Amino acid sequence: MNAMDFLKIAAGVYMAKTGDAIDPVLSLVKNEPKLENINENFIDEPLPFDGVYTEEINNKTVVCIPKDNSERFYGPGLRFQKIATNFAALHMRCDHYGNSDNGRTHVPTPFYVSDKGYGIFIDTPEFVSFYMGGTVRTDAKNPPVPQNRGRGEWSADTPGDFVEASFEKDALVYVIVGKSMLEVVSKFNLLCGGGPLVPKWGFGFWHRTHIQFGEEDVKNEIKLFKEKNFDLDVIGLEPGWHSNSYPCSYEWDEERFPDPKRFADDLLKEDIRVNLWENLFVSEKASIYEDMKPYSGSHMVWNGLVPDFTLPEARKIYAEQHKKTHIDIGISGYKIDECDGYDNWLFPDHAKFPSGRNAAAVRNTLGILSQKAIYETYKEENRRTYGLVRASAAGSQMMPFCIYNDCYSFEQYLTGLASSSFCGALWVPEVRDANTAEEWVRRFQMCVFSPMLMLNAWANGVKPWQFEEVEDIIRDTIKFRKSLLPYIYNAFYLYRTKGIPPFRALCLDYDATASQEMTSLDHTDNPYETLSFSDTIDQYMAGSEIMVCPVRPDQKTRKVMLPKGDWYDYYTGEYVGNDETIEIDCPLDKIPLFVKDGAMIPTVDDDNNLIVRCYGDRGFGFVYDDDGETFNCENGEYALFSMAFNHENGVLNCNYLSEYDGYNPKYKEVHFYDKKDF
Ligand code: GAL
Repeated sequence: MNAMDFLKIAAGVYMAKTGDAIDPVLSLVKNEPKLENINENFIDEPLPFDGVYTEEINNKTVVCIPKDNSERFYGPGLRFQKIATNFAALHMRCDHYGNSDNGRTHVPTPFYVSDKGYGIFIDTPEFVSFYMGGTVRTDAKNPPVPQNRGRGEWSADTPGDFVEASFEKDALVYVIVGKSMLEVVSKFNLLCGGGPLVPKWGFGFWHRTHIQFGEEDVKNEIKLFKEKNFDLDVIGLEPGWHSNSYPCSYEWDEERFPDPKRFADDLLKEDIRVNLWENLFVSEKASIYEDMKPYSGSHMVWNGLVPDFTLPEARKIYAEQHKKTHIDIGISGYKIDECDGYDNWLFPDHAKFPSGRNAAAVRNTLGILSQKAIYETYKEENRRTYGLVRASAAGSQMMPFCIYNDCYSFEQYLTGLASSSFCGALWVPEVRDANTAEEWVRRFQMCVFSPMLMLNAWANGVKPWQFEEVEDIIRDTIKFRKSLLPYIYNAFYLYRTKGIPPFRALCLDYDATASQEMTSLDHTDNPYETLSFSDTIDQYMAGSEIMVCPVRPDQKTRKVMLPKGDWYDYYTGEYVGNDETIEIDCPLDKIPLFVKDGAMIPTVDDDNNLIVRCYGDRGFGFVYDDDGETFNCENGEYALFSMAFNHENGVLNCNYLSEYDGYNPKYKEVHFYDKKDF
């Protein structure tokens, strides 16, 4: 094994290559790494080990990263069952998650982080296999303690000296070091370009209509929303808007949408945006079919061409058609579906592509490169977009797209929220259905503290008011989300400039790393007595001040672990505890939320006043604002206020200071509230 030769590229960020046959995803995606932001926000750290090693075995490049037995690992990739990955063997490839955290996932980004304060990122578009510390070499320096199953305690999980990774060709390997896991993840996010610029309307309420809907159906639906007094910000059109879908024509169905521009204009007059569903498989009926043919692979999917988006020519054909037919008439964005795979209908691993790249490389980058093509087309128009996609990769950080899938487990959706913060993705636990009114409410509530609040009625045409008995709660839940816009906007500002994920696993901020337990023998379910890890996923951070404690549909009470520090109830402002576990009642209309001592939470009321909620005796905060629609903030058109408060003789004193005034916020008035005003 050869020790790799690392070069420092930013504070605590080191890079080396395994050989010359590299084709980094970050170079394909061409996001500008924010190395300056890393240097401004974080201090330098030395490499945490003597060496990372590489060798070639059986035509594969192998990378060995030293580890010790007390470390916990998180990632690689988006996961849905457990966030800790010690001892897992993960074969990362872009795929639809199929109920097993085996590496086949929507975001297979080859990055993991250790609670010792470093992360490893292997930048290659190829499939990467990770063996997360359970492989033992015959020449191991610290071999596992010998065991004898017939004579006592035994576990199948034997710790080795390394995490081992293997892949075809070569890769850039990064070691990212920080004081905490949050610092490591933030540096990784900045290396990949930092968080996206999301339009303000994107944080409102999204409703995806039935697959067969045309213009009139959509307009009637909007009328119903109005009558019922439900806020609506984005309408999503599902496959039926295309003249042909599966494969896709990307052209309007003229019968359903005789005048798409008028349709988009009419909705915009009501402040409602239109988002279009598509997949990337090009129909013979598509106007771009002939042009795309030379840039497509050897196999079809659903009878459609598979464009090789690693080629700029293919992206250009796709983007130009989308610009002319949708973007220029006012469409606000896309839901790019099915680019994640499902082996039984995707192209095989031996498919050939005109770029000469392996099918693996095309598959792993289809999602991220389609996002990039769309994003750049909007950016050229100085318009922001926000949408959905089912596959992503390194560089997803900068893309204003959320990941979703077809699974529908409450528990797995929660795990997805925690896990997404380790791989630079935004995960949406969309609402589609419920068995009970209670479940309906709890699902909406989980969505409030996620990157997108969306009801996806594509198959069953459900409306938010489908359970009459909780109609008011759902209406208020949507309003509550909208009142949090300034706070969510702040969180995304921090994602963009400091790399801090807006919604994240509790262990990124607090001591809540997974605990490891020996399990007991069960000759049917657990014959190998494998180790089990308990993750905290039912508490997570939304922004830097609020800890969200979602309630499962059947829970009437729940336990809440309050990390060190004083915590306050979001709604009442009352002190609830410090460094203790409490039991709380869970009334249906409330999402249990706990706020850090000294927090100043900016919210907006129905009259467009900025209401800053102050918690505890003294503290500080900030408000970031810009026009919410364009990229002008990148040229200085933004506002940044810092704020502070304290209580003297029970009176709330507040002040705010403009740190930067390139933009004039449109709020009517600013009010500071404390618990007596809540
Ligand atoms: C699925 C997708 C659904 C819906 C459907 C339409 O793949 O996950 O949300 O869009 O396609 O055919």
